[in-house]
Amino acid sequence: MRIGSPLSPSALRVMLLGSGELGKEVIIALQRLGVEVIAVDRYENAPGHQVAHRAHVISMTDGAALRKLVEQEKPHLIVPEIEAIATDMLVEIEAEGLAEVIPTARAAKLTMNREGIRRLAAEQLELPTSPYRFADSLADLQAAIEAANGEKGIGYPCIVKPVMSSSGKGQSTVRGPEDVSKAWSYAAAGGRVDAGRVIVEGFIDFDYEITQLTVRARNAAGEIETYFCEPIGHVQVAGDYVESWQPQAMSPVALQKSRDIARAVTGNLGGRGIFGVELFIKGDQVWFSEVSPRPHDTGLVTLCSQRFSEFELHARAILGLPVDVGLREPGASAVIYGGLAEKGIAFEGVAEALNVPTSDLRLFGKPEAFVKRRMGVAVANGVDTDEARSRAKETAGRVRPVKG
Ligand SMILES: Nc1ncnc2c1ncn2[C@@H]1O[C@H](COP(=O)(O)OP(=O)(O)O)[C@@H](O)[C@H]1O
Ligand SMILES: [Mg+2]
Repeated sequence: MRIGSPLSPSALRVMLLGSGELGKEVIIALQRLGVEVIAVDRYENAPGHQVAHRAHVISMTDGAALRKLVEQEKPHLIVPEIEAIATDMLVEIEAEGLAEVIPTARAAKLTMNREGIRRLAAEQLELPTSPYRFADSLADLQAAIEAANGEKGIGYPCIVKPVMSSSGKGQSTVRGPEDVSKAWSYAAAGGRVDAGRVIVEGFIDFDYEITQLTVRARNAAGEIETYFCEPIGHVQVAGDYVESWQPQAMSPVALQKSRDIARAVTGNLGGRGIFGVELFIKGDQVWFSEVSPRPHDTGLVTLCSQRFSEFELHARAILGLPVDVGLREPGASAVIYGGLAEKGIAFEGVAEALNVPTSDLRLFGKPEAFVKRRMGVAVANGVDTDEARSRAKETAGRVRPVKG
């Protein structure tokens, strides 16, 4: 893969499908390497649109629209940044050789739907996961949870999620029979594409959860090698990440198991790029939860903690370049939510925030805020992750989104 000059016939062109805050950082990393970048999202002035060579607004679940745009822009690489994409069209595009899909069209398709990736991990690769069942109706869901006809149900507590959703949307914990119908309606309302199918998972009482960032990239010999970043610990509230740190201290056994699982699942998905493998840990026990074949939101911490952020690693890996996954120093990230529902908001307290030692900020530039929309992130370092976490939270807390 030869890097040419952007906006000339020699350009190496990369198309991002989804141009939110994670895509924006990938685009910046690609821009720095002299790549021509086309940013696509479903709304105007998305964060990544603002830093790309060209920006397009389409419905990415519309296969025909997606294909038309690919034929027009002729990207060499297509980089999905979100899950909700017409992945069957990506499979076609890849098969016809129109463009290379990162990491592979199959990976995008399997991970778009919780069922695809869960069945692959648990049933084919036989990795440890929470017990799970799928359901297509409230009655189905009730039957999946409750023991019936001598068959063992998932039981309580359990978690119900739409098969297609992210950031905890439509997801709820079911503590007893009285919660089931509420969980069903909540999932139906919060699901993305295919409303009406849910996964119900047994509740794992983990000590902590991690993201094992895993990179498949070319080594010096030109072969694809698997590299592991230091584990990232994080806190989720209602299925959405609010805080992360790196490195997360782990027992050697749990770390080894985590990496074995990450290697197995990313090896099966194949291709080049970074993956966020989500794992639950209790003592030396490890469960696979899910995987993103792209940078992970909890990995925003790597903007300050690693030699190369997850975004730079993704850019390098997809371009076939070598990577260095080394940690620089302990770091943490804390999310800045909108806190209000307004277009064109402003941020107060930015200078005070950046007076916190070692702190840095990303304000994503989203055109519209919602109360629980992630509008920015604070990162900070420390002698250890405790110090980094308190600094990152302090920094985030000093930023006040206000009416513009
Ligand atoms: N089976 C489970 N047991 C315990 N906690 C869970 C389980 N599934 C999800 N969670 C919690 O909810 C969070 C979000 O769930 P996840 O499946 O990762 O959804 P999303 O795709 O929206 O990120 C997890 O990071 C974890 O904190
Ligand atoms: Mg998740």
